[in-house]
Amino acid sequence: MGFCVTNVAAKAQPALPADDTRSRTERLAEAFRSVRAETERRAAPLSAEDQLVQSMPDASPTKWHRAHTTWFFEQFLLVPHVKGYQPFHPDFAFLFNSYYVTAGPRHARTHRGVVTRPSLDEVSAYRAHVDAAMLAALQSGNEALLDTLAPLIEIGVNHEQQHQELMLTDILHAFSLNPVSPAYDARWQWPASTRSGGAIELAEGIHTVGHHDDSYCFDNERPPHRALVGPVKIARDLVTNREWLAFMRDSGYTTATLWLMDGFAAATSEEWNAPGHWREIDGEWRVMTLGGLKKLDLDAPVCHVSYYEADAFARWSGKHLPTEMEWEVAARTGQLNDAFGIVWQWTRSAYSPYPGYAPVEGALGEYNGKFMVNQLVLRGSSLATPEGHSRVTYRNFFYPHHRWQFMGLRLADYRA
Ligand SMILES: [Fe+2]
Repeated sequence: MGFCVTNVAAKAQPALPADDTRSRTERLAEAFRSVRAETERRAAPLSAEDQLVQSMPDASPTKWHRAHTTWFFEQFLLVPHVKGYQPFHPDFAFLFNSYYVTAGPRHARTHRGVVTRPSLDEVSAYRAHVDAAMLAALQSGNEALLDTLAPLIEIGVNHEQQHQELMLTDILHAFSLNPVSPAYDARWQWPASTRSGGAIELAEGIHTVGHHDDSYCFDNERPPHRALVGPVKIARDLVTNREWLAFMRDSGYTTATLWLMDGFAAATSEEWNAPGHWREIDGEWRVMTLGGLKKLDLDAPVCHVSYYEADAFARWSGKHLPTEMEWEVAARTGQLNDAFGIVWQWTRSAYSPYPGYAPVEGALGEYNGKFMVNQLVLRGSSLATPEGHSRVTYRNFFYPHHRWQFMGLRLADYRA
């Protein structure tokens, strides 16, 4: 079955609408069912061989994503809270735990691609087993159990949506290394982008940033707090491939003075001379996409650039990357083009706890908080972000050398 990801461009709304009048059981069951179905829809175009490949330590096999998201519900909801639940298989907690130290020992992340067994069919059976147990628990009529499960289901649903995005970025990375350049979906096209030129001028002022209503968010988006922002001009448009080519032609990748020291070391050792997934064929740049190898669209937003590259580009432009607070305040005006749904946008903000940050209690406290060092925040969402999973306070984070996600940038200008 084909699947067109251009249809999943994110809209800023919570996964479980707060004004929904259906019963809590129906809402939770529907959110659970639909997220589980979306994972299967994204996996459906991929063969068993596709679903096993791990093209680098940072990327995981599709089969692993399908099993790990299932383990999450088994480990954090069914085992501790549903009486009489029988885990599907005694080895699966070891195989499919990702990084939860409090949930016990786990298989090495770097070796997920060697797990030929369990088979794909067994992973599908695992998903069905957990789905049935989850829906039975939701429909049990046990209100006390629902009180316990409801917030955990919201985390589980949002967790699986994050893995849905990774399923696409990870298989695209694998396909980009395949000499025959396979298409995930031959009908796939880049989403249309909007360009208006100009900038949003933010005068100096104190703004409330962070998540401050009752809708769902991750713990790292709270608490809301006040921040001094501006004066600064935030570009309405994303940086394009055409602009990136000008940087390349001006020796951007080899001019050391444009780069952070760690960045230049990464660019040199990785032999970067263009964004990720770009290939020069007969003097023309092509780019590997979910639709296969495509001619570079000069007016499309640049994608698959690391923080180091984005920072060097900004310096070459005589500008900067915005802070995450500047991005959020500008995005709240509703005047940023393509803030959501094409590429995540690098900010120059370190991924740190907000003042007064408190992780959720228990093992799920490992979800976000323990990663708050050495990474940078990206804002917005991408073409692979599932519908309903983006919002203006969302804080994505990656290491500065990472570039296999759908990552781009917009610029900030501090000149008067
Ligand atoms: Fe996970």
